Amino acid sequence: MVHNGIIENYDELKAELQADGHEFTSDTDTEVVPHLIEDAMAAGHDFEAAFRAAVSRLEGSYALAAVTADAEAILATRRDSPLVVGVGDDAAYLASDVPAFLEFTDRVVYLEDGEFARLESGSWTVTDDEGLLLEKSVSRVEWDAEETAKSGYDHYMLKEIHEQPRSLRQCLRDRVDELTGSVDVEALEGLSPKSVQFVACGTSYHAACYGAHALREAGVPSQAFLASEYATAPAPVSEETLVVGITQSGETADTLAALRQAERRGVETLAMTNVVGSTAARECDRTLFIRAGPEIGVAATKTFSSQVVACNLLSAAIAERSDAREVVGALRDLPGQVQELLDESHAEAVADRFLDSDGYFFIGREYHHPVALEGALKMKEITYKHAEGFPAGELKHGPLALVTEETPVFAVVTGDGETAQKTIGNVKEVEARDAPVVAVTDGVSEVGRYAEEVLEIPETHPRVAPMLANVQLQLVAYYVAKKLGRSIDKPRNLAKSVTVE
Ligand code: G6P
Repeated sequence: MVHNGIIENYDELKAELQADGHEFTSDTDTEVVPHLIEDAMAAGHDFEAAFRAAVSRLEGSYALAAVTADAEAILATRRDSPLVVGVGDDAAYLASDVPAFLEFTDRVVYLEDGEFARLESGSWTVTDDEGLLLEKSVSRVEWDAEETAKSGYDHYMLKEIHEQPRSLRQCLRDRVDELTGSVDVEALEGLSPKSVQFVACGTSYHAACYGAHALREAGVPSQAFLASEYATAPAPVSEETLVVGITQSGETADTLAALRQAERRGVETLAMTNVVGSTAARECDRTLFIRAGPEIGVAATKTFSSQVVACNLLSAAIAERSDAREVVGALRDLPGQVQELLDESHAEAVADRFLDSDGYFFIGREYHHPVALEGALKMKEITYKHAEGFPAGELKHGPLALVTEETPVFAVVTGDGETAQKTIGNVKEVEARDAPVVAVTDGVSEVGRYAEEVLEIPETHPRVAPMLANVQLQLVAYYVAKKLGRSIDKPRNLAKSVTVE
């Protein structure tokens, strides 16, 4: 039995099965399923009927696959948890996500809730909950196997950081008109909401913060919400609200719950996702694909930068801005600038210097605020060290108490406007407390004067600079984790897609 998800009524089922003499060998909720199957088989059902009978007793979310020692088939089903069938020439595959079998086949059948799959060597069938055969279409995914190999990199994360020039180009391809600065994306046609609410988790939430800021700046009331909060405490909506779920995998249970919440209230929903065929893509009214290609490392990198680019597309489609052409020009130059940064970055030396620090702080204002949050999240996810990101102005309202010479502060500052000056003011505050400052900055800002280390980024439009700054912080986190010998691609306790609420 393989199970992803949570069987919510397992206590009850376990008590019932134990009363009937079943002996359990683990504390998992999963174990009730094979016992239920055993029970039904003992009552005379064949394996498949027993599997269906067992599943009919379950409450909760699950992707399940079962075999018996002498069975010729693998049986599987799902509810609120992803499950896909891979169709090979002489084999069939079952996984939660396509990259798992991409090495063997690019043909996929997406299972819906309540459907049952039966896999035998080289053949597969899908039936509904009553056993009626369903005609399922086979989709071909555009990702290829090479994209899911490490290609000489030590870790997927490093490979994916280096893939950003390409993934960003893919995200933009055929979608913007450089002459007019306009955006041509089918999924966004005719979209004219009066307000926008973003829902997302983790890294995607940071992209949502960026997107909401971009729309607010263009005069459209917008907010980013953590999906797990929005699912139970949604914000008021009107008929003209658009709810955007940002989710790389398209399978994050909290984000799906928030989007369903919005759907129940009758508002238009849009999924911004990387995975064609994912639940979010299938359930939402509209879908904007970020086209980043498969991301294997648990810590999101290239999907974040593509989400931020996609937020620019969304914002341009919804609200007219006088600087549209400049932004499109800057986005067009972004992939090349990311490459330049990757070639020249000395993030590894910075990582070396601050390897033994007690903790790390990340500050930035406005568009750099999401970068500060994301820089801290990357650091904690893969190094297991304490890291915190916040808007630079909040530093003096609490976190400053924790600042010492053992806590480097990464300050993201670009340009020389009022916002940059204010952040420099904050930098001086930490410098006065002997904390080492690492400035992530362009050649324009004078923040470098107050910093012990400078991680430079190419000069660009203020809305595009955060993506470059973020790449430097991705590299710092990566090298700190590497030098500490952490399990970078699969950090402890974390999962790539979290399919339970
Ligand atoms: C998990 C991952 C994070 C990711 C978050 C949201 O927690 O570990 O890296 O940012 O899920 O994932 P999503 O697929 O919805 O973008």
